[in-house]
Amino acid sequence: QTPIIIDTDPGIDDAVALAAALYSKELDIKLITTVAGNVSLEKVTYNTLRLLQFFKKEIPVAAGAAQPLIKEPIDASNVHGETGMDGYDFPEPNENLLLKEHAVNAMYKTILQSNKPITLVPIGPLTNIALLIRLYPEVKTNIKEIVLMGGSTTRGNSGVMAEFNIHADPEAASIVFNSGVPIVMVGLDVGWKALVYPEDSEKLKTLNETGHMIYHLFQKYRGGSMKTGLKMYDSCAIAYLLCPEMFTTQKAYVGIELNGSLSKGCTVTDLKGYLNMPSNATVCLDIDEKLFKGWFLDSLQKCN
Ligand code: BDR
Ligand code: CA
Repeated sequence: QTPIIIDTDPGIDDAVALAAALYSKELDIKLITTVAGNVSLEKVTYNTLRLLQFFKKEIPVAAGAAQPLIKEPIDASNVHGETGMDGYDFPEPNENLLLKEHAVNAMYKTILQSNKPITLVPIGPLTNIALLIRLYPEVKTNIKEIVLMGGSTTRGNSGVMAEFNIHADPEAASIVFNSGVPIVMVGLDVGWKALVYPEDSEKLKTLNETGHMIYHLFQKYRGGSMKTGLKMYDSCAIAYLLCPEMFTTQKAYVGIELNGSLSKGCTVTDLKGYLNMPSNATVCLDIDEKLFKGWFLDSLQKCN
């Protein structure tokens, strides 16, 4: 089993990614931390606890950063709804799973206590991970890698050139990409191809309780516009952990644009070596769409 910490901002696609991860036998989720992103910290923490209650899984949760390091906050409630998980009536959560300590301290302890190096899986803005690296740089040697959903080698989905998770906190992303910890960037290049169509969603409806719940969330994801496919961005990071062979990757230097007046938050991915910088990330450039679809439905089949 691979020990992991998931840092998340549910978020409809986060909810789906959590389902796939929670029921996978290969992953050992030691901790789930939350970060303001798709909606406020309060809401994403509540959503995480509601999901764990729904799945009947007891994994410690720690709330982290309520705002980006420097930038003014943005959110994505236009995509995920006011609550961040519109569309399904979840059970009230078990608040006992919520640790009293800050996510960064909880991560620190979990990483140091682990007898195997831990993989971090951030699927929201990188604020907590940046704070962890700055406050406790000694953890770096016990982090195996950071497999993150974020970035793009081409255009953005939040700014012209910026993907949402990086755009939400570019300074944090810059700290993480320059940390020296091995990084896998699972960005829009693959997220845009990890699609769920109405016929897939119909299959989920009767698959099991989880599928039924996700079907209802999908009715509200992006205002229910499913015809061109719903993008399972965050599930791609989980798919990478479990089936890296479904991805085409290239090692490259990725710099985060912090100053561009039009391009702040852009992940400048130097695939051709123009900048003469050593690579700091394994960049996912492509995904086998068929394999992804199979893996996706299979993973949700394993849920309750
Ligand atoms: C990312 O932004 C969020 O809205 C999604 O949850 C995903 O993590 C995609 O750009
Ligand atoms: Ca997310």
